[in-house]
Amino acid sequence: MEYAEWLKNKDLQYKDGILHFANVNTIEMAEEYGTPIYVINEEMIRKMYRDLKQTLDSIYERNSIYFAVKANSSLSVLKILNSEGASFDCTSTGEIHECFKVGIPPEKIFFTGNMFTNEDLKFAVEYKVHINLDCISQLRRLSKIYDDLELEKQAISFRINPEFGAGHHSHTITAGKMIKFGILEDQVIEAYSLAKELGFKRFGTHIHIGSGILNAYDYEKAVEKYLTIITHLTDVINIKLEFIDFGGGLGIPYRPEEDPLDLGIYKDVVVERFKDLVTRGDLGEPCFIIEPGRYLSAESSIILAQINTVKDNGYKKFAGINAGFNTLIRPTMYGSYHHIIPCLENQERDRIKYDVVGPICESGDVIGKERVIPELKEEEYLAILDAGAYGFVMSSLYNSRPRTAEILISNGKTFKIRQEETYEDLYRNQRIPEHLK
Ligand code: LLP
Repeated sequence: MEYAEWLKNKDLQYKDGILHFANVNTIEMAEEYGTPIYVINEEMIRKMYRDLKQTLDSIYERNSIYFAVKANSSLSVLKILNSEGASFDCTSTGEIHECFKVGIPPEKIFFTGNMFTNEDLKFAVEYKVHINLDCISQLRRLSKIYDDLELEKQAISFRINPEFGAGHHSHTITAGKMIKFGILEDQVIEAYSLAKELGFKRFGTHIHIGSGILNAYDYEKAVEKYLTIITHLTDVINIKLEFIDFGGGLGIPYRPEEDPLDLGIYKDVVVERFKDLVTRGDLGEPCFIIEPGRYLSAESSIILAQINTVKDNGYKKFAGINAGFNTLIRPTMYGSYHHIIPCLENQERDRIKYDVVGPICESGDVIGKERVIPELKEEEYLAILDAGAYGFVMSSLYNSRPRTAEILISNGKTFKIRQEETYEDLYRNQRIPEHLK
């Protein structure tokens, strides 16, 4: 794919030498709102959701897309996806509260946590949020909570670990015998039999094999195994599945040489296989569910940062910017690549190799390693691309740097949807005991 087209797919374009995002001038935004800032493109979120939904609808109508809230829990993002008809997958009661805050009803929320506490389980029961259990002991605790509260037992599902995982980094591969998630194949019959015995009457199944999967064939083995497990389960114990959830993981092209995930292959490897089973078998018509986070949100956002210091130590050139791993931790944590481009195109300048680094006091604070960019000058601006998934949500206060603002672009207009934190926020919740005063 041509580089300009790759950029255009992300709604980025140079006009008169200035980078525009969603048709808005990035330098004007940086100057109006200050830097660093996260900038979110509303239309991109809507487009990604609609394309994916259309792909699913074209094969199997009973489907739902649950947005993985952990990727981006900004209230405006949740509102946008809610207005598109999405459902929501949460990993904590905090994320569920964020969904409630914007009016998402409990029947559109899944709670896929792990290592659930009794408080988590009780919360799900009381608020009628569907829960994906992670092991058999949690089922017994959940059942007791229902019995103690004298409430009718709702649908139940287990996260099944199909052992074939995939993902962009070992930290994000979530299937395999040595991985903490879900129940393995040989526990599945026991889990669902026990659920039946304890009085649960409605069932579903769940997998999530990992995150950042750009080659859809990486799902093949896990899906095959999952469907075999499901066939065996429904043969051995007489239950009907209301839904079969295939988790998230769909990747996006972070590097200019990468093409977008081929939805056609995803369709064949995941959706068609599911549909074959449903048409062949005696499964009824379960809902087909997926839980993408990154796919829907990553390309919706850029970070605008300012170059503070350009430095040459005689061996290496560094471009020091005001966004470090406090603002975006993915490069430091996973070695992830985020493309970095200048807001001023500067094609006439010499191309120079820089390490683009943040202001955090650690050598690992490198946002982009050995990037060849037209010569950078202090006080100019850069854009860090594809920051909408696991970006702001993983940012921190490290080095006591308050978190950034977030700006939403909708139809060419900009809105500040999150106020930047202040120094006051750094100490707001701290108390100094009397003897230290
Ligand atoms: N469902 C479950 C149960 C999950 O655990 C996750 C992600 C998803 C869905 C969504 O996965 P996605 O479609 O976004 O790949 N911080 C890492 C990613 C961690 C993903 C954790 N689980 C990163 O920055 O790459």
